[in-house]
Amino acid sequence: MKTDRQLKELWIKFFTNKGFKRIPGYSIIPENDPTVLFTTAGMHPLVPYLLGEPHPQGEKIFDVQRCIRTNDIDSVGDASHLTLFEMLGNWTLGSCNKKEMIKLSFEFLTSPEYLNLPKEKLAVTVFAGDETAPRDTEAYNAWKECGIKEIFYLPKEHNWWALGGGVGPCGPDTEMFYDTGKPKCSKDCSPACDCGKYLEIWNDVFMQYRVKEAGGNAEKLDRPNIDTGMGLERTIAVLNGAKSVYDSGCLKRVIDYIESKASIKYNESEQSTKAYRIITDHIRSSVFILGDERGVVPSNVGQGYILRRFIRRSINCARNIGFDVKYFTDIADIYIDEYGQDYSDIANHRQFIKEELLKEVDKFSKALEEGHKEFEKVLQGIEKHKAFALKNGESVDNKISGKAAFRLYDTFGFPFELTQELAKERGYSVDKAEFDEKFKEHQEKSRVASAGTFKGGLADGSKQSARLHTATHLLLAGLQSMFGKQVVQKGSNITPERLRFDFNLDHKMMQEELDRLEKFVNDAIEKAIPVTCTIMSLEEAKNSGAHGTFTDKYGSQVKVYTIGNVSKEICGGPHAENTKELHHFKIIKEESSSSGIRRIKAILD
Ligand code: ALA
Repeated sequence: MKTDRQLKELWIKFFTNKGFKRIPGYSIIPENDPTVLFTTAGMHPLVPYLLGEPHPQGEKIFDVQRCIRTNDIDSVGDASHLTLFEMLGNWTLGSCNKKEMIKLSFEFLTSPEYLNLPKEKLAVTVFAGDETAPRDTEAYNAWKECGIKEIFYLPKEHNWWALGGGVGPCGPDTEMFYDTGKPKCSKDCSPACDCGKYLEIWNDVFMQYRVKEAGGNAEKLDRPNIDTGMGLERTIAVLNGAKSVYDSGCLKRVIDYIESKASIKYNESEQSTKAYRIITDHIRSSVFILGDERGVVPSNVGQGYILRRFIRRSINCARNIGFDVKYFTDIADIYIDEYGQDYSDIANHRQFIKEELLKEVDKFSKALEEGHKEFEKVLQGIEKHKAFALKNGESVDNKISGKAAFRLYDTFGFPFELTQELAKERGYSVDKAEFDEKFKEHQEKSRVASAGTFKGGLADGSKQSARLHTATHLLLAGLQSMFGKQVVQKGSNITPERLRFDFNLDHKMMQEELDRLEKFVNDAIEKAIPVTCTIMSLEEAKNSGAHGTFTDKYGSQVKVYTIGNVSKEICGGPHAENTKELHHFKIIKEESSSSGIRRIKAILD
C-alpha cells in the first residue's frame, strides 16, 4: 500500500536525481491570469516561461501542483474523475527531446526503485498527425524501443494538449495508461473509448506550437518545451490496486467516515456510491478554495459561485444518503490534517474553512427546504397541465421551463445544475436555453460580473498585458509611497484592455489622492526608466529590499524586477522593457472589493 506522501517523495527523488529543480506549487486561484477561474494544470502558472521568459530555476523544473477542473464535474462519482487533483509536473524549457523524456517516463513508471509497474500493463497513445502537425513517429519509436506493446495513434481530439480556450502554448502529446485488466469492450477497444479498461495516469506534452488568439493557427515555437503531468490520485489508485480513486488513500478515509454516520451504505446502489463520491470530492475542493490565501467565499460570481455549487451539491447528496450535513466540518478536519502538511494556507485557515462551510450549509439548508417545496409545486403544475392536455389529445414534454428554474435559482438559491439533477431523478428535463436567457437578463440588470471566463491576459503573453503588468508595479509603488509599506497587493487581474488591482487600505481614496497616485505613475512613465530583471536567491531578494508577500509560493531562486529606484518586486514577469512603452496611465475606477480591501481599475491610453 502506497500513500500520497510516498508517491510525492518518489517523484521528488526521481526528478532531483535527474537534475531537475523543484519549484513550489502555486495558489489554486490564478493571479494575473483572467483566462480561467482556477489553476487547471501545473503548466498554467508557467505559461510565460513556456513562451520564452527565462525561469529563475533554470530549464529543468518540477513540482506538485493542486489543480481544479470543473469541466468534468458531471463525471465526478465515476471511478476516476475528480474536480480537484494534485498534479505531479515537470518541465523542460527551451528544448524538446521526446526520446529522452519518454525514456524518463518509462523509467519512473517501471523501475523497481520507483513505481515498479509491469510494462505489459502499460498502454500509450501518440499523435496521429494532421494538417497542423505531422504524425509523431518519434514518440512512437521511443515507446517501441522501451518495449511497450500497446501503442495507439490517435487524432487531435485525443492527443493534442492546449489550455482551455485554445490560446497559448500547445502541441501533440503522448498519454500513458494503465490497463485495469477489464476485458476489451469491443474489437476496436482503445484508450480513446472511455470504457474503463484503460486509465490515463500521465501525459507528456510536446509544446512545439503556440496559438496567439482564439481561433488562430498553431505557429511553431522557436523555443519548444516539454510539459508533463501525472495525476497523483489515479496513480495511487493503480499502485494500490484500488477499484477507483475514492478507494484508497485519504479519499477512502473520508468515504469510511461518511459511512460511519450515514443511513445508506456506500455500495448500496449506484446512486449512493455516486453521492458518497461527490461529497468526498466536492468538500475537498471546497477546503482547498476556502483555505487559499486569496480568501474566496461562497457567492454568486466567479470562483465563489463554483464554491457555492460544490457545497450545495454536497448538501443535496448528503440528503440522499441520510448523512447529516453538520458533519461536513469533520470531513474538512480530515482534509486539513492531511493537506495542511503540504499547503500551509490550508493549515492556517482551519477555523475559517469550517466556519464558512457551516455558514453556507446553514444558508442553503433553509433555502433548500423552501426550494424543494417550490420544486414539487412546479412538477405538480406540469402534471396538471399534462392531464389537461391529454384530455384534448395533445402531448406535453416532461420539461421544466427555464423561467421556473431561474426562479428556483434567484429566490431559493438553487444552482441550475441542482434543479437539473433533481429533475433528472424524476424523469424531467430543464429548458437550459431559456434559463440562460433569464440569467443573462438578470446579470445585465444587476451588473454582476459573470462566472464565465475573460479573454486574453498575461497568459497570452501579449505586449499590452505586459505593459499593464508593469503599470501595476508602479501603481503599488505609488500606493506605498503615499500610505506606507504595509500596503500590499491582495489580488491582480489583467486583460489586454485594463488592469484591476486589489490592495489593503482602510479608507476610500479621495479624488485628490487618486490624482496624486496617477501622477506618480505618469511621472515614472515620462522618465523612460528601463525595467530590469535579475535572478537571485530569495534571501538576497529579501535583503535587497525587494517587495514580495513572502508566502510559500517562491522558489529558492527568484526573479526581481527593478524599475529604477521607483519599484523593486519579486515577480515572474513578463514586463515592458521601458516605462515609456506605457504611454499614459489613467485610473478609471476606485471601489471597495471586500472589507478593508480597495480595488483600482486603470488603463493605458
Ligand atoms: N499540461 C498537461 C496536462 O495538464 C501535462 O495534462
